[in-house]
This record gives sequence, structure tokens and C-alpha cells, in this order.
Amino acid sequence: MTIQHLLGMKARGEPITVLTCYDFLFARILEEEGIDVILVGDSLGQVVLGYDSTLPVTLDEMISHTRAVRRGAPDTFTVVDLPFMTYQASVAGALENAGRVMKETGAHAVKVEGADEGMCETIRRLVGAGIPVMGHVGFVPQSVHTIGGSRVQGRSREDAERLLAEARALEAAGCFSVVLELVTETVARRITGELAIPTIGIGAGVHCDGQVLVLPDALGLNPTFQPRFLRRFAELAEAGRDGVRAYIREVRSGSYPGPEHTFGGRA
Ligand code: KIV
Repeated sequence: MTIQHLLGMKARGEPITVLTCYDFLFARILEEEGIDVILVGDSLGQVVLGYDSTLPVTLDEMISHTRAVRRGAPDTFTVVDLPFMTYQASVAGALENAGRVMKETGAHAVKVEGADEGMCETIRRLVGAGIPVMGHVGFVPQSVHTIGGSRVQGRSREDAERLLAEARALEAAGCFSVVLELVTETVARRITGELAIPTIGIGAGVHCDGQVLVLPDALGLNPTFQPRFLRRFAELAEAGRDGVRAYIREVRSGSYPGPEHTFGGRA
């Protein structure tokens, strides 16, 4: 998988599959099952580290988890979120931090949120330095406090025009793809039709060029989180609970370990 391949998939109308991932074992499953792109999202903060937003996630945490993912999925195109305040303060800081991600993880691209003039300049400089960038507009979780919660974007005409302008600006700045998060179907369809680069939707309807979901949400590991856009493709929390209950029961009853789990020997 390369950026050129992703552009070709858009041109051919082939849906692009993206899932987030944060660890070795799931990365191996994703690669073996043929996912097109892995995103090491800073949703790591919520679904792995237990924070209530993505804001506390550090660059070192992203690098450490990305290295694990790359060991599990060495042949899968991998994009890494630059965490909050590792690329907003200055272009030099963004270059240094994105450079660390690329050098220390072997990932193929970084993702940044937002599309104002400052961010577009940063994207131009990253791309100019040889670092592919995925953009992200709509609901941008690193700005949750200025947005005031996870809200669907693009419902009014002005908001729709703003999103379209942002997506165009990201393409012009050199992004190879853009995530549309919590965007109305109409706006996502318009953006997808206008841009030459692929749009990857989450809560943005079926007309995007690809879809991304947060893996633990998609696999039902976090069943109390049930936004409208989410389909659960497995029920891992339930399966995990059943397994844990069975383990406790069988250890307490003495039925585990059995003879087949036990090593013999004369001494
Ligand atoms: O951090 C993340 O998982 C993301 C996806 C929701 C697109 O940015």
C-alpha cells in the first residue's frame, strides 16, 4: 500500500478500509485480514490509557505504541496521530516531532487536526520535508474544549461551506488524504466529490472514499459507548467477561490446570 495506491483506490471507487490500532497482537490480526491502512490514533488516550480525552497523550506514548503496531503489521501502511501540542506551537516543533515519529517507528505518515492557515503552512513544510500528512476536519477531538463537546459539524450552510473550504485547503497544502469526523452525509459527499485525495469518514456516512473506526469500539470492547454512527462488528467485552468468569470458576474449583496442562518428571 502506498499513497499512489490509495489515490488509485479512490479513482476506481474501491472503499478504503482503515482501523485504529495500538498494540502488537491486534496489529497482526489487522494485517493478516488485509486492512488497507492502520491509524495509530491518539484515541489511544481514551481506549487504552483511560483518559477522558486525547489531550494528555504524549509523543513518547504514541511512538511506543506505534513501534508495537509496526512489529505486528510490518507490511501495512501506518499513519500516526501527532498528539496535542506536538505540532501546533511552531513549524520547527512539528518538523522535529513528526521526524521523530517517522525515524523511530517506521510509520509511513502522520495525521494532524485542523486546517487554518497556520496548520496548512505546517502541513506544507512537513510534506516538503518528505513526511506524508493525513488531514482531519469536522469534529477534531484535540479541540474538544473549544468546540464544546463531540458535535456533528456542517449542519448549517455556513458551517458546510467552512468544512468544504478547510478540506480544499488541506488538499492544496499537500495532504494525501483527509479524515472527516462527525460530518453530515451531504457535506461529506460534496467534499468527497470535489477532492482528488481520498476522504476517510467516521460518522460521515457512506459517500466517503473510505471508513475508519476506533478498533475497541468496532469490536465491542467498550459497549457503553454507542454513538449513532458505530456498528459493533464483534462483542469482545462479553466474550472476555465470559472467559474471565470461567477462569476464576475453574481455578477455584480445581478443574484448571488439568493433567493435560501439567508437566510430569521423575524427580
Ligand atoms: O484518534 C483517532 O482514533 C482518530 C480517529 C477517530 C480518526 O483520529
